[in-house]
Amino acid sequence: MNPLVLLATSTGPTQNLSIFDPASPPAESIRHLSVLVFAITGVIFLVVEGILLYAVVRFRRRGAAGTEPPQVYGSKPIEIAWTAAPALIVVVLILVTARTLWEVTPDPPAPRSGDNTLFVTVVGRQWWWEYRYDRYNGRELGFITANELHVPASDPGEKGVKRPVYLRLESADVCHSFWVPRLAGKVDLIPGRTNTLWFQTDKPGLYLGQCAEYCGTQHAGMLLRVNVDAPADFERWLENQKRKAVEDPAARAGKEVFLSQSCVNCHRIRGTPAKGTYAPDLTHLMSRQTLGSGTLKNDEATLRQWLLDPQKLRPGCLMPAFRLDDRELRLVVQYLRTLE
Ligand code: CUA
Repeated sequence: MNPLVLLATSTGPTQNLSIFDPASPPAESIRHLSVLVFAITGVIFLVVEGILLYAVVRFRRRGAAGTEPPQVYGSKPIEIAWTAAPALIVVVLILVTARTLWEVTPDPPAPRSGDNTLFVTVVGRQWWWEYRYDRYNGRELGFITANELHVPASDPGEKGVKRPVYLRLESADVCHSFWVPRLAGKVDLIPGRTNTLWFQTDKPGLYLGQCAEYCGTQHAGMLLRVNVDAPADFERWLENQKRKAVEDPAARAGKEVFLSQSCVNCHRIRGTPAKGTYAPDLTHLMSRQTLGSGTLKNDEATLRQWLLDPQKLRPGCLMPAFRLDDRELRLVVQYLRTLE
């Protein structure tokens, strides 16, 4: 494994992917269901293994060889019991599963002013996440970012303001699956179809996840990062993301190199002629902590290595090496580093 990958995903209190530590109502429903299913199947396991062990010990071969134990052919009460009991158990499992599905997939409400609700369209792509910010609190947002989702935290307590998040899940190529275990269950992103997912939490912090549907070479490197920000931090983040890219006169030469290369065919930097939509929007690249869909640390050295040869850091990814010379490389890195 590349040492940079290790750095970006290093262990810490945020490295928690347990479905048994939910931080949002849908994840809680899923934990309840999982515990119930484990309990029921655990009891079945104990009963079956218990009877098996009892039979093995009680009826083990002893005494004279050649004599058979009494042969029993069928018993109506036993057969009725072992048909009815499993059928009943299956019905119970179907009912609780249906109830949980109902709880975790409500229809998204219509956006209205004062609803404190965030609506984001997520587009799964090989191999990164596009986030189109649609609306928050009734306001139209209309900017696009990549790989690091920011959402507002709810106020703690029963009476606090709730700030739910509704995601519309779409795909631009193959099937992907959005899974941040502590916030919600796995939901697939399917070409030609729109799925929805919701969550809400009053615990700010970074929540990690992972694409959970095999989608090609970099499937395992399609990580999810959800930053749950305090409401004021979230508003600040929103205001910055809505702005066009920073114009830093000191980085003009780098900007010219960037715009003269084929970077512009795939990437967008709002406020410049770069209008590509095929690759991540770079307007506020430096507001992100990672590169390469959460797998690499976003620092100067890594950015340089990335531009030099993306295939080395992320084999199979769709960005080619452009063979920039040393001077061009330095200038482009310098320019990208200004995009706060
Ligand atoms: Cu995207 Cu697996």
